[in-house]
Amino acid sequence: MSDTRPRLLMTQRQTLPVMQRIEQSFNISGVPEHKLTTRELLDAARAFQPQAILFSTGLHLRHDDVAQLPDCVKIVATVSVGTDHLDIAALHARGIIVTNTPDVLTDCNADMAMLLMLAAARRAGEYTTLMRQGWGRGLAMDEMLGTRISGKRLGIVGMGRIGRGVAKRARGFDMQVMYSNRRRLPAGQEEGATYFSTVADMLPHCDILSLHLPASPETDGMINADLLGRLPRGAIFINAARGALVDEDALIAALKSGQLAAAGLDVYRNEPNPDPRFLELPNVFLTPHMGSATTETRSDMGMLALDNVEAVLNGRAALTPVKN
Ligand code: 8YV
Repeated sequence: MSDTRPRLLMTQRQTLPVMQRIEQSFNISGVPEHKLTTRELLDAARAFQPQAILFSTGLHLRHDDVAQLPDCVKIVATVSVGTDHLDIAALHARGIIVTNTPDVLTDCNADMAMLLMLAAARRAGEYTTLMRQGWGRGLAMDEMLGTRISGKRLGIVGMGRIGRGVAKRARGFDMQVMYSNRRRLPAGQEEGATYFSTVADMLPHCDILSLHLPASPETDGMINADLLGRLPRGAIFINAARGALVDEDALIAALKSGQLAAAGLDVYRNEPNPDPRFLELPNVFLTPHMGSATTETRSDMGMLALDNVEAVLNGRAALTPVKN
């Protein structure tokens, strides 16, 4: 008997509960052994003729890619909050609904920013390296010292859900929170944070700078040599948002010159092959784009994406549609 369940094309394995739901409710062409590339996705879509595509960041659907999707595709559901890998206008022009997974990853992404902040400030990468080498000698009172984060001034660029999550956590560390955002938050949401209408004006006041805004043509490379030069010497830079926000040559130069004492990075321009110069800098704490990577959150993201797919394929409105 033929399988009448909706056809779902998936580009990478999901968590166990999400896989169980997929296997129960959808006709899938198989579980990919590796994360598919855009080319592989387009070939698989042509062969399998799915109604829905489940995928994530790291796989782009630009204008020319969208043109190659078969007409049967009704929804592309990205298991991510970010949508910079997609040409939303081109997808909409083809009548394809686009959904993402906001909210469910806010806490874990904010936690990752704090992890990077603590690790960069307290030299966690260097301590781990020393321990793996066997430690083996007593350290003087002034050796391998980090930077205290309690009470320090934290500048947040982008005060959306994740930025506000970081501010909330930073208040627990008695940090002074400042932020720059397109719009000032209503007083009830500021909770004592100081607003700057431009990033440039905020930077001279920041001991630590953390990015929490989406990548777009307007924000590409916004953190450049000029802006990094406005930070106090010895500041700490955190990025758990997108690598494309940063001019990485300028970042590396600032880390080498001591303009930045340290950086904590979860995201890079060239993923999954970041600029190898980062690996040579002991004052950079690096993680492989894992902001949402907890069992709980990855399951919540997958479930929300499937809720969207089921709603759309059953003629209902998507829960979290992405607008143009
Ligand atoms: C990725 C993210 O989705 O949600 C986003 O925009 O960047 C992450 O949560 C995740 O790392 C899978 O690639």
